[in-house]
Amino acid sequence: MDVNGKQFKRFLERYDILAEQNSKEKAKKQHAKGKLTANERIQLLLDENTFEEVDAFVKASQTASDFGAAGNDNYGDGVIIGHGKIRGRLVFVYAQDFTVMGGSLGLVHATKIAKIQDMALKMGAPIIGLIDSGGARIQEGIASLAGYAGIFHRNVHSSGVIPQISSIMGPAAGGAVYSPSLTDFIFMTNETSYMFVTGPNVVKEVLNEEVTFEELGGANVHSTKSGVAHFIYEDEENTLRGIRKLMSYLPANNIENPPVREFNCEQPDYEEKLRDLVPDEPDKPYDVKDVIQLIVDTDSFFEVAKYYAANIVVGFARMKGKTIGIIANQPKVLAGVLDINSSNKGARFIRFCDSFNIPLLTLEDVPGFLPGTGQEHEGIIRHGAKLLYAYSDATVPKITVILRKSYGGAYCVMNSKNLGGDFNFAWPTAEIAVMGPEGAVSILYRKKLAEAEDPVLMKKELAKKYRDEIANPYVADEKGYIDEVIDPAITRRKLLSAFEALENKHVNSPSRKHGNIPL
Ligand code: HXC
Repeated sequence: MDVNGKQFKRFLERYDILAEQNSKEKAKKQHAKGKLTANERIQLLLDENTFEEVDAFVKASQTASDFGAAGNDNYGDGVIIGHGKIRGRLVFVYAQDFTVMGGSLGLVHATKIAKIQDMALKMGAPIIGLIDSGGARIQEGIASLAGYAGIFHRNVHSSGVIPQISSIMGPAAGGAVYSPSLTDFIFMTNETSYMFVTGPNVVKEVLNEEVTFEELGGANVHSTKSGVAHFIYEDEENTLRGIRKLMSYLPANNIENPPVREFNCEQPDYEEKLRDLVPDEPDKPYDVKDVIQLIVDTDSFFEVAKYYAANIVVGFARMKGKTIGIIANQPKVLAGVLDINSSNKGARFIRFCDSFNIPLLTLEDVPGFLPGTGQEHEGIIRHGAKLLYAYSDATVPKITVILRKSYGGAYCVMNSKNLGGDFNFAWPTAEIAVMGPEGAVSILYRKKLAEAEDPVLMKKELAKKYRDEIANPYVADEKGYIDEVIDPAITRRKLLSAFEALENKHVNSPSRKHGNIPL
């Protein structure tokens, strides 16, 4: 080919135009807002020199009514799509470019995202979306809305087949919020990202309520109050690093097993310190994350939704290099009680792990479900049932260790034997019963307590008797409701051997279209 010829010149010219389009001026605008450009984000997300762009030169469709869109003769139509690698493993990516019409989604923009979604699903590799968008492109009307619907449809189709990750790196307004919310995990960057279905202006018009972007849908709100976001980081570099870290725990698809990290550290399988972490007094709080750290591979615990419903702790970890998912009641927050938010958080995490062949470890210390009109009227029955359903429906290996309290419905819910737990262990500090000692004796001895000379002393004595005779792990052990009461010091060794025994677990579920989880 003649490299000085007309055809080659045209080939090069297009790259010049593309480079000009991604000019320093545009980058400056993004940087001024504390944001990176779409290109910079992709480079940080992926292994060096692995990104291969697709459809860099497609252009926006022409609209009947331009309303200021006529100037959009850009190559790419405001979104970059392609594939690359994270720690040597294939991923598909799209990144919206806010400098092109506010990253808004028109027909061509949507078609590009759909194309990369289809490729990711076909190749069985994760997809990561970097969102920075004002939502449906107003000028393109119905074509934008249809474009969003097509993306949502693909999100649902890919759900449970390939991991789908979204990272909000600017606005995600209107339609831009629903694709992320259909994906498995949402990352947000503090102070530069926000998500809302309707913005502050509409809120003001409709409700006459003054609210800032940050107050309405900032990263803080979504990672603490709404539970929409699972990860929050201080800046974009760390957000992208966080996504890379998450990917290291996950398989590429639902047929693969999670990647195994080489394990060569001298970590003891016998840890005496575990004996002292849980206080004998049932009402004394402690941090369940201290227990987790001593059981799993050193520094391998990666917490999900850390700041939302902190009375339950969920996250990924490794045991001898293999990924597991952990669900643990947190006695340090609200005594580890199960409420609506913690039930939702736990159930969603279990569903994810089960979809992607990640074995589950449950660490239980739970006084029960949170009582009160607030919870009952908001539907704790319906939401608590999600946790029951998710545990029961999961076919991955499931192990529970009861650390201390295991009362009532909460005993049943937290992967009890009869709910399908494969191995159920308890520490000697475990209290397994229909309800806590004080509650039980108040009901059983109401009349006697009312007539007693010293009801406080009597209650204390009865509670002790109840604890000795009923609320301990040995009754459950002797009746076979747990497999073994173990010395806390050997927990890691027990779990390693139990997970190994379950490696080839196979469950035949009855044929059905799908179950009907109480949504
Ligand atoms: C077309 C848009 C746009 C949109 C922003 N722009 N959003 N163009 N369609 N949806 C353009 C702006 O006109 C501007 O163009 C450029 O992007 C940058 O926008 P600014 O407003 O200057 O930026 P900023 O001040 O940072 O504000 C960002 C923003 C704001 C908060 C996102 O632009 C905004 O409120 N946009 C509308 C958000 C919204 O209501 N979307 C919902 C659409 S309806 P110039 O040429 O000046 O640079 C929807 C329904 C789908 O999505 C439902 C599916 C379920």
